[in-house]
Amino acid sequence: MPIDTVEERCETMLTVSVDSMEGRARDRARRVQWRDVLLNTIDLTPAIGSEVVVDPQALLEGAYADEFRELLIRRGVIAIRGVDFDDDQLRALTATIGEVRQGALYENKGMLEVVHIPGSYFWHVDGTYTEMPPFATLLAARVVAPEGGETEFANTYAAFEDLPLDEQEYLSTLEVVHTMKAAHNYAVPEPSVERFQTWQGHRGVRPLVWRHKSGRRSLVIGATASHIVDMHFVDSHELLQRLLAHTTQDKYVYKHRWKARDVVIWDNTGTMHRVRPFDLSSGRRMHRFAVEGTEPLATALQLGAA
Ligand code: OGA
Ligand code: MN
Repeated sequence: MPIDTVEERCETMLTVSVDSMEGRARDRARRVQWRDVLLNTIDLTPAIGSEVVVDPQALLEGAYADEFRELLIRRGVIAIRGVDFDDDQLRALTATIGEVRQGALYENKGMLEVVHIPGSYFWHVDGTYTEMPPFATLLAARVVAPEGGETEFANTYAAFEDLPLDEQEYLSTLEVVHTMKAAHNYAVPEPSVERFQTWQGHRGVRPLVWRHKSGRRSLVIGATASHIVDMHFVDSHELLQRLLAHTTQDKYVYKHRWKARDVVIWDNTGTMHRVRPFDLSSGRRMHRFAVEGTEPLATALQLGAA
């Protein structure tokens, strides 16, 4: 086979030498080989969301894992179109980014089938009841609703960083009680006592402002945020409502309109999200995986005690 360009020659040399390697050395070399092909990204809005155009095989081999982690934090949301991955492949893609989250929710080796989560129609961060919310969540469209059912994302880093400096400092001193009651009360305003008691098992005190290892800070608000510690509830609701309105302005929001074979991954530590209403008889169905968190969402007291 004639070789026309330097790039082709390099690629052929790499392929030959990579194929002659074994195990881990071969995996590492493959990563280097793929990395020669630049990750193609398209900004979906100025402040949030990037679409990536990428070879599906390279994705599964983790060729862009470092770039993806960096892009998730910088752009909040990564959208990939036209990838026909089955659950094993989605799990493998998730595992390239970090540890696949397991637990009661994720029955199927880390996979959760999402059809109708009453709390998900309102802006929220996943896992605020836990001290280590997932770093990232991945959703793949299995059945798309013909109308509605879009997922919206808001950049909570950008929203925080645009606030006046004195307000940033003040907000950084506050703590918030997150409860399942707050999240579910919109959808289920009059629960049975039994249901209410199940909710009671899911709550926690979290800082209003998440200080990340990078030194950057983001807001942690949304439907699970019940009230601010040591503040009158009237003022507390007003502050949370004002921050929610600020963070969900159009300039911080990307709305994903799902098509079949879309995969979307978001940085759950630097964004909030919600699904827009859709007709349940449409059969909308998503498969979800989550990447374990590595940054605790903990108050100074909780961190000190750790
Ligand atoms: C979720 C979620 C939104 C959607 O799975 O955590 O909020 O679009 N889903 O289904
Ligand atoms: Mn969610």
